[in-house]
Amino acid sequence: MLNAYVLGRAFSDGKYRKIFRERLSEPLHLNLLSLGVALFGSYRTKVEFDLMVRQQYAFPVLFAADAAKKLGLSKIVVLEFGVATGAGLMNLCQLAERTERETGVTIEVVGFDTGTGMPPALDYRDLPEYFQEGDFPMDFEALRQALPPRARLVIGPVEETIPDFLATVMEDAPIGFISIDVDYYSSAVHTLPILTGRPEQYLPITPVYLDDVAMDGANPWNGELLAVAEFNVAQPLRKVAPFTLLRSKRIFKNAGWIDRMYAAHIHNHPTRTPATAKRAEKALIRNEYLRYKAPIQPQPGSNRAGA
Ligand SMILES: C[S@@+](CC[C@H](N)C(=O)[O-])C[C@H]1O[C@@H](n2cnc3c(N)ncnc32)[C@H](O)[C@@H]1O
Repeated sequence: MLNAYVLGRAFSDGKYRKIFRERLSEPLHLNLLSLGVALFGSYRTKVEFDLMVRQQYAFPVLFAADAAKKLGLSKIVVLEFGVATGAGLMNLCQLAERTERETGVTIEVVGFDTGTGMPPALDYRDLPEYFQEGDFPMDFEALRQALPPRARLVIGPVEETIPDFLATVMEDAPIGFISIDVDYYSSAVHTLPILTGRPEQYLPITPVYLDDVAMDGANPWNGELLAVAEFNVAQPLRKVAPFTLLRSKRIFKNAGWIDRMYAAHIHNHPTRTPATAKRAEKALIRNEYLRYKAPIQPQPGSNRAGA
């Protein structure tokens, strides 16, 4: 866990300040417990304790694999939109491998990028005060050679590459997680059609990470948040919303990634449709105030009061 990559990353680009700010403001006993988990914990526990590099990928990939397993699926595909030099994509591959070992669900990784960096900005909605044409170029050949077999790159503007890619997504290996890190409003508008395929091409709740919603200048009228708001208006049965009550479900509450974690709700997924969502068993609510007995089914014609 505490290898050279982790330490190097922690002390680069002022990241240690973020780690200290987020982590030292958490209760002491949880940080002490973390030391034990870092040394002896399982992968799942490390994800629960926010100990993986890029928790924003570790959490949703594990969530997706668990959800796939519950649905009887043995494979998912996870997507990163906006790859640049590929640090995030390579990290995603490592996390996919760890998650695969933990859950037994096979995870394919696909990265999308122009390959030549940012296109021109449209207007103020693209946050030109932060991003500009040509930012974040990729060394395609170096990255291609460094990627493990589970990963591949789809090169070109997303508005051109998504339709062909979506046509290849199989229902027995649906999309399980989407990271949107294309910076601009206009690029996010072109990325969100990845969520307009057939319902079975997704998990019913597909985590979506929005990387560029945390700058001071980002708001619901520009950037990725505006693209999401417009998508939600246009799509009656697909909604992208903040991941429900995620902060209250996490051990460490101050982590910034929590505020960037969204979920795509596929409301017309078969598991969310009354005719196909039926369970064999009825749901029961235990009443701990009564001595619990298996409920007695009323017999046809029996007198209810005397039953
Ligand atoms: C900030 S970088 C991504 C960083 C990467 N996710 C990481 O964690 O290392 C944003 C990337 O989005 C890509 N991008 C922006 N608009 C795009 C578009 N319309 N089509 C494809 N790629 C796009 C750019 O080429 C750029 O490399």
